[in-house]
Amino acid sequence: MRRLCIERNILVWIACSWSIVGCESLPLDASQGSNSAFVDSVLQSMTLEDKVGEMTQLTLGSIGVGKPYKLDEPQRLDTSKAFTALVKYRVGSILNCGNHQHTPEQWHEFIEAIQKYAQQKESQVPVLYGVDAIHGPTYTTNGVMGPQQIGLAATWNDSLVRENAENTAVQVFGCGIPWNFSPVLDLGRDPRWPRFWETFGEDPLLASRMGVAMVEGYQNGEVPIAATLKHFFGYGFTLSGKDRTPAWIPERELREYFLPSFKAAIDAGAMSIMVNSGEINGIPVHTNKFMLTDLLRDELGFEGVVVTDWEDVKYLYTRHMVAKDYKEATRMSIEAGIDLCMVPIGFGFTNSLLDLVKEGSISEARIDESVRRILMMKKQLGLFETGGMPPPLEDYPDRREFEGGAAQAALESITLLKNEGQHSTDAAQPVLPLGGTGKVFVTGPTAHSLNALNGGWTGTWQGTDTLHNTPGMPHLAEALTNRLGANRVVDQRLSMDFKTADIDRVVRSIQQTRPDHVVLALGEMPYTEMPGNEEDLALYPNQKALVRAIHQTGVSIIGVFIEGRPRTFNDVEPLMDAIVMAYLPGDFGGDAIAQVLEGSYNPSGRLPFTWPRHPSSHLTYDHKHTEEISADSSTNAFNPQYQFGHGLSYSSVEVTELRLDQTAYAMSDTIHLMVLLTNMGNRSTNELVCVFSQDSVASITPSVDRLRYFDRVMVGPHESMTLNASLPVEDLSFINADLQEVVEPGAFSLRVGSKTIAFNVNE
Ligand code: BGC
Repeated sequence: MRRLCIERNILVWIACSWSIVGCESLPLDASQGSNSAFVDSVLQSMTLEDKVGEMTQLTLGSIGVGKPYKLDEPQRLDTSKAFTALVKYRVGSILNCGNHQHTPEQWHEFIEAIQKYAQQKESQVPVLYGVDAIHGPTYTTNGVMGPQQIGLAATWNDSLVRENAENTAVQVFGCGIPWNFSPVLDLGRDPRWPRFWETFGEDPLLASRMGVAMVEGYQNGEVPIAATLKHFFGYGFTLSGKDRTPAWIPERELREYFLPSFKAAIDAGAMSIMVNSGEINGIPVHTNKFMLTDLLRDELGFEGVVVTDWEDVKYLYTRHMVAKDYKEATRMSIEAGIDLCMVPIGFGFTNSLLDLVKEGSISEARIDESVRRILMMKKQLGLFETGGMPPPLEDYPDRREFEGGAAQAALESITLLKNEGQHSTDAAQPVLPLGGTGKVFVTGPTAHSLNALNGGWTGTWQGTDTLHNTPGMPHLAEALTNRLGANRVVDQRLSMDFKTADIDRVVRSIQQTRPDHVVLALGEMPYTEMPGNEEDLALYPNQKALVRAIHQTGVSIIGVFIEGRPRTFNDVEPLMDAIVMAYLPGDFGGDAIAQVLEGSYNPSGRLPFTWPRHPSSHLTYDHKHTEEISADSSTNAFNPQYQFGHGLSYSSVEVTELRLDQTAYAMSDTIHLMVLLTNMGNRSTNELVCVFSQDSVASITPSVDRLRYFDRVMVGPHESMTLNASLPVEDLSFINADLQEVVEPGAFSLRVGSKTIAFNVNE
């Protein structure tokens, strides 16, 4: 059904806006017959060499002039390398960017040249180009960059996620690229993991809803591109917290927590999946037939393309040590179920695969299965109709069309964690919003950095190169100056590795200027994957020292975290009067934070994760009852800095009543809830309503809370309103010891805010 949708859109789009390029020269008529008949006929015409080429993906760096990881500038194709890869080896897919952005014009030049090489091979099958455009068109100059996934999750607004993904698709496809390595559907259940910020947070339901929205945004819009679900699966929950290190996750827990987001997105029609680079229970996932075939294909019914992650077949013998050489590694990954290998440099995989088939270790029928899927994806993306050529450059969209979506997402993500005085009964004003007068001193290591706002996968892989920043977008200090006026704002730059002398300089400057508030931007500079591994989750010592020193001046501190994961800071938290989490809000993040601070926007972001109080005692909200018991046998062991779902607004909304339509339900029933909400303040508030379930007794120890439903509602000033929600009883299920998804009859309750209501589920 979804597949039909993507094809229909592609064909309408091709017909409306783009004369077909290169079709005449294709050996087969792509417009005739069914897709599978077409794909079969292409497959039949291919030689074994054509087929193993189709299963090979190389990086742009491997066919450019210069070294693969350091191409010569200006970047261009190396005619000899491109001919060898695309014509001699018939490589069917290319990825990424030579580690920097390109203008749409440059992308067109690359893609057109690559497709012209593809036309020189016998089969003429077009090349499938893929990139990581994970929070906007990462590798396109002047692309519109919105919040990273962790910030999108904090909006709890899936229609906004869909809109931003659709906008990314238009910009990426405008460059001639039909395939995106996004979304990440791993869960962020361990903030030590350096890709935490690439996730939608810790909860399976939230990640599923957001993931489906993102897939739909990429694939079902007017100009669709293929989505890739990453990284299948259980990546990001390693024992050490470090990237690509061993995870030990029993199958029951894999199914309970880590599978639902992938299953939901597969059901939504996702066209491809990328494999987890790590090992689970001692088996590298790239060799795990149970996960990649039995579960993914036979049980979940996934029919799309399974692509490896970067260099992961090679790593089977260079890092994981489960294969003795490239050939054995290739055989193991093919037997497990991969279709396309992100090699991404050299022909070790291609040559090994050819040898394996020739010597009979792998059957040609197995190769055909994968090639059929790859050709089908190319067909569904319209590549056979267009020859894979980019759409006309004149049609490249105006970035202003997409700025609104990214700015709104940034705004809705900003989460107010603390606001001293907000709930006090005395006449004292809360710290935020900043009034219309008073001086603000802005400092901190992330206050003057657009890179910090954007995070990794921005312009480059690590996102640290200022050369690729979008011109004209303000960092936080600039944005605050724009909003409050230059006469109210004083700022002082700090680098990430500032020293005691720099702290002294800032303190002196604060003492001289005597501001009303210090806006202190803390957090992290961009990173992803292994470069983001940390030894300690605590906020960096120099940042804590800065908080302490500024606190000594007596000026109130508004802490703003611009970072991809919650760093622990319980020892300096009391020294800050207000605290805001901005995540990695993208190019529009500076202004979004400024709007929240000045008060023109009433903050609506809510944490998509639990913020730990101490670096070594992290628990998620859905922990077990035994994890609440402290050493002294009291039940206060779960004591995070901030709860999952936490976030203040300037006008707080309370749950004043919770009702159910019945006191007992049958298994096939739907529970109808009525949640009465009352806005206690004088501003409209965009409130998040979360419904958590508690299973009193279950055959697998139940979690203290499980999120079963959420919605956002607008509650007017001093208004009371009722939210009606429906929850099928089957949504209270869990995975039992036999790996079955079940609801066990008995006593349950539902909690919304501080109200809980009990009911029974009958046999
Ligand atoms: C990452 C993937 C990414 C791929 C291609 C890998 O290192 O793990 O998430 O899609 O590179 O850039």
